[in-house]
Amino acid sequence: VANIFVIDDDDQLLRMVGLMLERGGHEAVLISNPFKGVERVEAEIPDLLVLDVMMPGLSGHDICRQIRNNPATAHLPILILTARAQEVDRAAALRSGANDYLSKPVNSQELIQRVTDLLARSRVGKEPPGDGMVISIFGLRGGIGRTTVAVNLAGALRRTSQEDICLLDLSPSGGQATTHLRLKTSSHWGFLPDTGEFGWEMVRNNLLVHPSGLLLLAAPALPQAVDRPTVEAVNRLLFLLKENMSAIVIDLPAVLSPAVNAALAVSDLVLHLVAPEVVSVQAAVQAQRFLAASGLTIKRRSHILNQVTAEAQLPPATVERGLGATLSFQIGYDSNQPRALAQGAPLALSPVQSPVSVTIRRMAEAVWERVQHGQG
Ligand SMILES: Nc1ncnc2c1ncn2[C@@H]1O[C@H](COP(=O)(O)OP(=O)(O)OP(=O)(O)O)[C@@H](O)[C@H]1O
Ligand SMILES: [Mg+2]
Repeated sequence: VANIFVIDDDDQLLRMVGLMLERGGHEAVLISNPFKGVERVEAEIPDLLVLDVMMPGLSGHDICRQIRNNPATAHLPILILTARAQEVDRAAALRSGANDYLSKPVNSQELIQRVTDLLARSRVGKEPPGDGMVISIFGLRGGIGRTTVAVNLAGALRRTSQEDICLLDLSPSGGQATTHLRLKTSSHWGFLPDTGEFGWEMVRNNLLVHPSGLLLLAAPALPQAVDRPTVEAVNRLLFLLKENMSAIVIDLPAVLSPAVNAALAVSDLVLHLVAPEVVSVQAAVQAQRFLAASGLTIKRRSHILNQVTAEAQLPPATVERGLGATLSFQIGYDSNQPRALAQGAPLALSPVQSPVSVTIRRMAEAVWERVQHGQG
């Protein structure tokens, strides 16, 4: 139960929002006078504040700024309600210091979802800056299960550790992590300035929260320009995520773009994914050569075999010989995976015992061991 203050001069809307919040299991304090509202917020410090924009004398944006400027209330999660539904309003809301924005008419389900997300996010990254481990899922062949492994590994890490784990979907061509997790892409890295000039608040405001507590920075649903995300944005983003998360799992696109190189360069562990087929092994060997020639130093790398089709073309020993490396983990074909994807319920977070869930949970335990005992 959260103690939520709602400030809105429209009494009818005020009562409606209050009812929705109460039905969502929260305690709502309704205030129709904006000046009184600010006074009470500063005196009583609620868990969250819902604000209307257009109010006589003092706008929601004014209130936001005032609250942000007061050290006692600066960290209060604020959700702004506005009558218009345009990107400019979102930008204006976020600029004045609100954490999120919802357009009227207010839909009860959406309101509760936003409030739940905001409350969850306000608990994130409160610890002093740390040094989160960055784990990249890499592979230059499409469709070999990078997103599946990234989602399940991040989910399993969250499940074992109950700490702040962030999955980062760096796909420039429409990310799929939201589908695997059944989340709506209401925010994503596309909102972060290309210049890399942004702080933790802005990153945090764009995180999606899965019911497991796993955090996701999604990719924009629409394909992006080839130079997005920029190297500047990726570097800044990973710096901030490392400071605030225990671990970051990156779903890398199957290209060697400047952004991918930047992510690889700061990765503590690169999991190179291969499928048991000739083309995939060839692609992996070429990728290794290319990376060696590029002078990029990769701190630590493991090879993971993932079988996405029922029939394996090559036995594991042949894959190892082709790679000239041993396979750290082998994920077998999982007949539950198509349904897991269709339902948006990752196997590693379900009670199911199957190749994907069992192997990736073991991977997560090995990774978590390393997180706790310094990366090495
Ligand atoms: N071990 C497995 N067993 C069965 N199916 C799998 C397995 N791993 C992945 N899949 C399925 O294979 C398909 C491709 O997986 P996924 O989207 O994770 O690959 P990807 O490398 O991220 O692809 P893309 O290049 O599109 O980003 C998905 O339908 C996924 O559910
Ligand atoms: Mg993918």
